[in-house]
Amino acid sequence: MNDALLSARNLSVRFGGVLAVNNVSFDVKQGEVFTLIGPNGAGKTTVFNLISRIYTPTTGEIDYMGAKLTDQPPHKIAALGIARTFQNIELFEHATVLHNLLIGRHTHRQTGVWSEIFFTQKTRDAEIQAREKAEQVIDFLDLQHHRDSYVAGLPYGVRKVVELARALCTEPKLLLLDEPSSGLNVEETDDMAFWIQDIKNELGITVLMVEHDMTLVSKVSDRVLAMNQGEVLAMGTPREVQNDPGVIEAYLGSIDDVSSLRRQHKTVDVHAGVRS
Ligand SMILES: Nc1ncnc2c1ncn2[C@@H]1O[C@H](COP(=O)(O)OP(=O)(O)OP(=O)(O)O)[C@@H](O)[C@H]1O
Ligand SMILES: [Mg+2]
Repeated sequence: MNDALLSARNLSVRFGGVLAVNNVSFDVKQGEVFTLIGPNGAGKTTVFNLISRIYTPTTGEIDYMGAKLTDQPPHKIAALGIARTFQNIELFEHATVLHNLLIGRHTHRQTGVWSEIFFTQKTRDAEIQAREKAEQVIDFLDLQHHRDSYVAGLPYGVRKVVELARALCTEPKLLLLDEPSSGLNVEETDDMAFWIQDIKNELGITVLMVEHDMTLVSKVSDRVLAMNQGEVLAMGTPREVQNDPGVIEAYLGSIDDVSSLRRQHKTVDVHAGVRS
């Protein structure tokens, strides 16, 4: 019995001469936080874009909840319960936080054009449900204070949480987070770790994340997949992957350097390099 929510099988995608993803397979299990790590250009965002159906794989398949995701058109993805945040925040800058969340919710609307034009009972009910969900998410992520603020005026760290909120408003089963800590300071990154843990534990949402900050990765991930130059390097617990010689080599260039660093009692952070 396979308890995978999503299965990627032998995924490859080529852009001209670049094999951005090369024969990558992994399962994301229901209820886990599964994290992709790897140096710049490893192919992590491309894997997300394959799952979001922005790209079609050159070869390979993605199964999601027992059906072939690769058969689905991109506009169906949100309705299938897959939501994402972007490496570079993508919000409507000149709208309030609440409005951004209501826009995020729009994929849930089952109402037709005529029903929207004449503002029927069905449309009214959908509107009320959308508002209720947005308010719930605002409370859940502690955004009450920013509810009616314009996104353009908000600090970067708050915008990252608003983007997360917008994704949650679609009530996803699978949440894709592309570098949730990028641009955040240490304190904001700690907060992000708490939100991700709450999303998993309290909302039961499965999370597939791309992340560079290994402190955050170790704190929240059940399993980690390391990629380099489009290929899978290692898969396992955060500790197993961080200690994998192939992973260390990909980040630092030479295994000999790492052995000598270990002798000097220095630690290896697979993204930041070497710390004293
Ligand atoms: N649309 C595209 N057209 C051409 N090449 C692309 C395209 N998207 C990605 N690539 C290439 O594919 C490779 C993988 O890129 P990708 O953005 O997936 O890396 P990444 O692991 O997310 O890196 P980073 O950590 O910098 O975000 C890179 O060589 C990139 O230049
Ligand atoms: Mg990326």
